[in-house]
Amino acid sequence: MAAPATHDVLPYQIADDTFLITWGLDAPPVGHFPMHSMLIRGREPVLVDTGAPACRQQWLATVANLVDPADIRWIFLSHDDRDHAGNLLPVLDACPNATLLTTWFSIGRMAEEWDTPLPRCRFVNDGDQIDAGDRILVAARPPVFDNPTTRGLLDSSTGIFWSVDTFATNTPDRMLEAGELAEDEFRDGQFLGARLVAPWHRYLDQSKWVGCVDAVQRLGATTIAGCHSPVLRGPRMEQAFDLLRQLPSLDPWREFDQSDLDGWLADAGAFSAPLTPVP
Ligand SMILES: [Fe+2]
Ligand SMILES: [Fe+2]
Repeated sequence: MAAPATHDVLPYQIADDTFLITWGLDAPPVGHFPMHSMLIRGREPVLVDTGAPACRQQWLATVANLVDPADIRWIFLSHDDRDHAGNLLPVLDACPNATLLTTWFSIGRMAEEWDTPLPRCRFVNDGDQIDAGDRILVAARPPVFDNPTTRGLLDSSTGIFWSVDTFATNTPDRMLEAGELAEDEFRDGQFLGARLVAPWHRYLDQSKWVGCVDAVQRLGATTIAGCHSPVLRGPRMEQAFDLLRQLPSLDPWREFDQSDLDGWLADAGAFSAPLTPVP
């Protein structure tokens, strides 16, 4: 399918009753980063993360076009980073019948900016299950994360695993399926994204790390959707896990430095969009 316009929030159905709420940010000079969240429109609809403040109104309208917000029963917050939790209070207001699935530590971290209404919360830690009526959801920490509260979510009925910041990648432009990437683009993107999200990769013990990645792969997901990833299916999913196992041996990603910034500023006009922090 044709890629949608770069900065619009648009729905993209990835399985029965499951939609990515897609968005993205240009990140010159490395391309573009997806910035997705997800809606499971089952018997008890579930929002998976709440999008970023920069696209708040479009995000809320896109969700409301897919489901009556009053019907949303659960809001699963993967962690409290701005790109995942930035619209939490407006989403709670829009979805008065939803229970927030979060953690003690996330609530504390968000207290730097707002009070999360405790009576609407349920704590969901790594390994906990949620009965959403017609499906069981399982919280599971993905291997790569940039926030200590991170938990992914496996939908046992569709086989979709929300991998949060794991499998983050830059893409040449906005694209929705990882199968559209060339082999080298896919490999380079996985290595770039993982090292950006997890600069601690160089401290990892290889054998322990492989055990960690294996455990997540053994969850049995058949499709992976992540905030910063095109959808991973079939061979791409297998490749992504294999690439992830190599993370401990990779050299650190060379961060852009002041000479890069000086060059970009001297070449002002080369980029059509402002520089964007990556996830
Ligand atoms: Fe994050
Ligand atoms: Fe993120």
